[in-house]
Amino acid sequence: MKRTKITHLLNSKEFGKSFNVKGWVRTKRGNKNVSFIALNDGSTINNIQIVAEASSFSEENLKDVTTGACISVTGKLVESPAQGQPVELQAIEIEVLGTADPQTFQLQKKGHTLEFLREIAHLRPRTNTFGAVLRIRHHMAFAVNKFFNDKGFVYLHTPIITGSDAEGAGAMFRVTTLDAANPPKNPDGSVNYKEDFFGKETNLTVSGQLEGELGAMALGEIYTFGPTFRAENSNTARHLAEFWMIEPEMAFYDIHDNMDLAEEFLKYLVQYALDNCSDDLEFLNKMYDKELIDRLKSVVNTPFERVSYTTAVEILQKSGQKFEYKVDWGTDLQSEHERYLVEKHFKKPVILTDYPEKIKAFYMKQNEDGKTVRAMDVLFPGIGEIIGGSQREENYEKLLRRVKEVGIHEQDIWWYLETRKFGTAPHSGFGLGFERLMLFVTGMGNIRDVIPFPRTPQSAEF
Ligand code: 4AD
Ligand code: MG
Repeated sequence: MKRTKITHLLNSKEFGKSFNVKGWVRTKRGNKNVSFIALNDGSTINNIQIVAEASSFSEENLKDVTTGACISVTGKLVESPAQGQPVELQAIEIEVLGTADPQTFQLQKKGHTLEFLREIAHLRPRTNTFGAVLRIRHHMAFAVNKFFNDKGFVYLHTPIITGSDAEGAGAMFRVTTLDAANPPKNPDGSVNYKEDFFGKETNLTVSGQLEGELGAMALGEIYTFGPTFRAENSNTARHLAEFWMIEPEMAFYDIHDNMDLAEEFLKYLVQYALDNCSDDLEFLNKMYDKELIDRLKSVVNTPFERVSYTTAVEILQKSGQKFEYKVDWGTDLQSEHERYLVEKHFKKPVILTDYPEKIKAFYMKQNEDGKTVRAMDVLFPGIGEIIGGSQREENYEKLLRRVKEVGIHEQDIWWYLETRKFGTAPHSGFGLGFERLMLFVTGMGNIRDVIPFPRTPQSAEF
């Protein structure tokens, strides 16, 4: 018999009919007359209760049905007499597909800390928490594509191996070639790992933006959505060495159009989670964060505050707060400053604009004042920066001047400069850190807990 997913069965009204389910045992309890097995198959946070009467299943029959074991159950669907579950399955046949020795299986019934679960990343998807997070992550990825598809944006696949350093974002992962059968050798005979990719210096991408801009200059509106790499050795709860970024890039958008799109996009994603992930959100709300769902609803219904960097600096200086880092015009804001603005001062998401040119990337469009650029960072409660973006400098001479000022070699970026030579156009874009979005939507406190296999300086085993 073909298996039915538990999520479908829990909503079924076909009482009396036989079904087959397959999944992993969460718990088994009972008495001498009957055993109750809570079974989960990952299709929903909810378990189905399997009822195994002692008249059909002896203790010996069920001895391998332990927490963590994988079983296949065929049974009759009945209305459940128990509260809190609509249906249960009266077992006719139970087959153990894979045992899980109770002495060595790490995920026993008792709760585990998130820190411990990080050490067993190979098994943590089997927990309620990670099941919920990973299903929400899937829905968010789908919603990203749906949002842009519905608006007619083209999904542009930008390269992962690249010779450009778009952001000057700090350390990169260098790519080297290695012919395993015939590796390049140093004079002393050891393997030369520094050999370059096709003789050029290449690295893993820190952002798909510059290539995204090439796409926007032809297709109008594009987005990228892929893995991004930053070899920063930062052990914070908001940084990963490998994270996913969504980067839309739009011809004919100015900074205001860019802000409007960013705000609409974030609200769409949060509303999508509320509409499509309610069981998982309710679980996380109950388990970890009693204000999660209220916070999500409030973001959807609140216009974001838009304020310039200069005004923000004045607010911070007048706040009377003791910050670890002092705020002066011209310095980058730290996350303590960003969070003060969002959580204490405005009490809503904030879009900060018009940052000093010196602390932002070379490609941002200069303002008339000669000091600031058309940058925008979206700051979120509990997160800090969730989006970074800008209107781009479309003027060839001005862009070239900035390229030289920041010490980029013109010949390394000739292809980017040419877009400003041939049919240049005003354009804008931004980058949303997918895991920062996930932190907000799930209410989890650590970015390592919203990606299946976090790459941090500590963990890259598999
Ligand atoms: O502000 P960033 O560095 O901007 C860019 O990369 C631009 N090229 C984007 C663009 O305009 N197309 O990064 C954008 C976002 C940040 O706001 C943050 O959400 C996320 O990417 N991010 C990280 N997320 C996790 N771990 C890290 N190490 C991150 N660095 C940035
Ligand atoms: Mg940034």
